[in-house]
Amino acid sequence: MKKVILDVDTGVDDALAIIYGLESEVLEFLGITTVNGNVPLEMVNRNTLKVLQMMGRKDIKVYSGAPNPLVREREHEYSVHGTDGIGNALDNLALEDEVQDQFAADFIIESAKKHKNELTLIMVGPLTNLALALKKEPRLSEWLDEVIVMGGLVSQAGKGNKLPNSEFNIYADAEAAKIVFHSGAEVTLVSLDVTHQTFLTIDHIEKLKGTKYYEFVKNATGVFRKFSMQRYNIDGCALHDPLTVGYVINRDFLETGKYYVDVETVSPLGYGQTICDFRNLWGKEPNVNICLNVDGEGFVEHFVDTVSK
Ligand code: BDR
Ligand code: CA
Repeated sequence: MKKVILDVDTGVDDALAIIYGLESEVLEFLGITTVNGNVPLEMVNRNTLKVLQMMGRKDIKVYSGAPNPLVREREHEYSVHGTDGIGNALDNLALEDEVQDQFAADFIIESAKKHKNELTLIMVGPLTNLALALKKEPRLSEWLDEVIVMGGLVSQAGKGNKLPNSEFNIYADAEAAKIVFHSGAEVTLVSLDVTHQTFLTIDHIEKLKGTKYYEFVKNATGVFRKFSMQRYNIDGCALHDPLTVGYVINRDFLETGKYYVDVETVSPLGYGQTICDFRNLWGKEPNVNICLNVDGEGFVEHFVDTVSK
């Protein structure tokens, strides 16, 4: 089984990624790390612990991470994820557990050192924890097997979700993303170009009826689906974070290619933009695997099958 740490800012689709990853039973979770993002860190921690509690998976430990981006002010996404981050779906669940004492970035360093070349980081929130870890221990980039990041957009100019050319996770801490992309680690970017081809629609959700997660998925995605309806005319939830986990489960879902990618951190018009040099105009060594194609239907089908087990 592949050893992974999942770094989340739970978040509706982060919650779905946790369920999908654990129910796939093909990944060995060393732990889950949390970061400020969709909602403030305290809420992220609570949501993550509650999702694990609902699943009966309190054996998975949660390590709390960065409460703020490296440089900028915090940005949240209440209009997509609801006022509590998970569409108030677990309001009635009394929290029984707590986060671990160890700081997330230190847990990442320690785990990578212990499992050299064996650990995959799956990053589905802003990249603050990994940037801090790389600054503290630069050898981390050599110790990691791979880093799979949900973030950015590379070929669909104007179709960002935070600015016309910027995606939320990168926008929320662009300075951190820049550190990660230039760290020398084997980075793959699962961007909006492909995640926007993986909507879990209300029809898919109804297929879960009678299974363990039906109520949660339907309720948690309520605000998200309303938002998608207004913006994309789809009653569904884009599976950004689950697809990022899906790539670790099955490489066939995505076709990738390696290019030079950088992050804009200066321009107010393009802050957080991921710029891919497809034509090698800058003449730089490729540093990031980007996604060129997705088997969207195949992935969503696998997601539905896995969470309805
Ligand atoms: C990303 O931002 C968050 O809102 C989602 O959880 C996902 O990780 C999509 O842009
Ligand atoms: Ca997320």
